[in-house]
Amino acid sequence: MHSKRKPVIAGNWKMFNTTSEAATLVNELSSLVARFNDREIVVCPPFTALAAVRPILDETGIKLGAQNVHWEEKGAFTGEISPAMLKDAGCDYVILGHSERRQFFAETDENVNRKLKSVLKAGLIPIVCVGESLSEREAGITSTVVSRQIKIGLDGIDAESAKKIIIAYEPIWAIGTGRTASAADANAVCAFIRLTLTGMLGTPVADAIRIQYGGSVKPDNVDELMGSSDIDGALVGGASLKADDFGRIVGFTATSK
Ligand code: 13P
Repeated sequence: MHSKRKPVIAGNWKMFNTTSEAATLVNELSSLVARFNDREIVVCPPFTALAAVRPILDETGIKLGAQNVHWEEKGAFTGEISPAMLKDAGCDYVILGHSERRQFFAETDENVNRKLKSVLKAGLIPIVCVGESLSEREAGITSTVVSRQIKIGLDGIDAESAKKIIIAYEPIWAIGTGRTASAADANAVCAFIRLTLTGMLGTPVADAIRIQYGGSVKPDNVDELMGSSDIDGALVGGASLKADDFGRIVGFTATSK
């Protein structure tokens, strides 16, 4: 992390937690993270738990996010949720293009780009996920894949809006596998993402954009990851479902080497 950028730790709950489980988790969490005001903390419950979580978060510094959104403002799109509906539900953040959505729900870079434009217009902070599969890494095409995702995903975004974007680098082979990218490997890709952003948007904007790492982030590896120059936060799956673990992750101490 860099002192110029405020660290942001987000929990992606995926398809876990009923309303009562969600309320219990954020109640436990709020006492654990109350003292950290130098970092942003976000929880992204499933849509059905947003309303249960919202009033509990009012007493804390924790922000609310969603896991997906549609790009249209309203209309005949059965099963979809608009950016304005997320704002209305008290969300400030939304995850876009998670690898599980790309893999299981046919989400493309072009869809991510449409969603990104719509979300920025609505005043939500997007967390745009990118990352390579195991076979892509083994084929040595990580940078090709990630730069394509960034270039198409962020195409046509103006510099002022781009500063608000958070990028999450999530190598697919590290998600839910317990296999974390080493801090050095993760940082190298995050630095490459920043270089790509510099080419698209210029240095001041690229330096302002926060880049998270995601993929088996745990209490015992977060400090080293956050001690890396181009990693400004974490997008946490499994460990964000346990208050103690997520509380410890939020309370990281960056140990730069
Ligand atoms: P895990 O932390 O469970 O590996 O999940 C990472 C992730 O997909 C966060 O969006």
